[in-house]
Amino acid sequence: MHDIFKKTYENKGPIGNWKNKIEGSITFPELTGKVSNRMFYKGQECINWSSNNYLGLANHPEVTKVEIETVNEWGGSYPMGSRMMTGETSYHKELERKLATFVNKEAAFVTNIGYQAMLSCIDALVDKNDIIIYDAECHACIVDGVRLHVGQHYAFSHNNVDALEQNLKRAEKRVDKTGGGILVITEGIFGIQGEQGKLKEIIALKASYNFRVMVDDAHGFGTMGHDGSGTGTEQGIQDHIDIYYSTFTKSMASMGAFITADSNVIDYLKYNMRSQIFSRTLPLLYVLGAIKRLDIMRNTPELRNKLWANTQELQTGFKNLGYDIGKTNSCVTPLYLSGDIVKAIHLVEKLRKDFSIFCSMVAYPVVPKKLALLRVIPTATHTKEDIEETLYAFSKPEVKSMAFTEEIKQQ
Ligand SMILES: Cc1ncc(COP(=O)(O)O)c(C=O)c1O
Repeated sequence: MHDIFKKTYENKGPIGNWKNKIEGSITFPELTGKVSNRMFYKGQECINWSSNNYLGLANHPEVTKVEIETVNEWGGSYPMGSRMMTGETSYHKELERKLATFVNKEAAFVTNIGYQAMLSCIDALVDKNDIIIYDAECHACIVDGVRLHVGQHYAFSHNNVDALEQNLKRAEKRVDKTGGGILVITEGIFGIQGEQGKLKEIIALKASYNFRVMVDDAHGFGTMGHDGSGTGTEQGIQDHIDIYYSTFTKSMASMGAFITADSNVIDYLKYNMRSQIFSRTLPLLYVLGAIKRLDIMRNTPELRNKLWANTQELQTGFKNLGYDIGKTNSCVTPLYLSGDIVKAIHLVEKLRKDFSIFCSMVAYPVVPKKLALLRVIPTATHTKEDIEETLYAFSKPEVKSMAFTEEIKQQ
């Protein structure tokens, strides 16, 4: 009989097969110190470009104060159990009201982990005759949510609204016969390559086709829109997004997530999302922390302004040095490499060792096979010196030659 553990010796998967070369550096590196612009890697202080701490809220003193007070009063575990059973508090509901108001929706549902919330939200919403149409480069939590769907699902090529429309035509023909409905899923900001989803164009298709839209705005919430309320606001179509989802693990720099929609949809989700019914509630530590983080996010536009000033300076600097940052129109800053993984690994190691710059490398299967990129995440905590030192490092011929910008441009 075949031993299902055979592969654990012979084939650890597309990233796992590199384990011996990259574990501890590219994969599972240990960054120490408080989450901020500077952290320690192997004892060496580095400029940290790898945390999605966009607004610098990870260790904001007012947040830390609330979190310490919460732990002192309630402990780190309260409440236990699922929301539905014993995990409810008035603070969860207060946070939900505040989130819904901020993103201009009727109601919100705060969840424990973003990944599983997305999975269960999709699972709860669609029945076997419904069809899901989603952007091919959506985050793994969407792809895995789609995997749970027993009915039809079509992926459209990334940000290609014509391809989406073709799929809508195909789906409409089918649901006309089966009586199902259509759910379109995309992202506000694609978190690896930094492009905004074409939300405006997708919403415009609602005039001709009958479907609901769900947007995962993990990287847009807090960073986009005049008030930070996200990419829907940025593109002027927030009201037309049927389900707006985000996580607390990026701009809020914490844990947990939320889903917003009309009240009846949220009521339905609260009673039908299996990952929330059969998994524990978000502890008060994170709930009260999130209320404070949201408050600071809303009332301190200076943080968002600083984030964007840093983003602009960094992205302009990279472009002036000849780097290819693709089509990003968000704070996420990709630097496209030639796709030679070994050279990319050496580049990342060189940046850390010789220039004290810590950034992450992304390769297959996170991005398509031919791509490898460095992912640089500016935050409000970065200083002028951080940006200057980084651009100086990337201007050095030995770094530039390893990045192979020209080759990737020709692909
Ligand atoms: C686009 C997107 N959606 C969802 C998630 C999941 O959020 P969480 O970290 O709360 O599980 C992430 C986090 O990496 C993300 O980038």
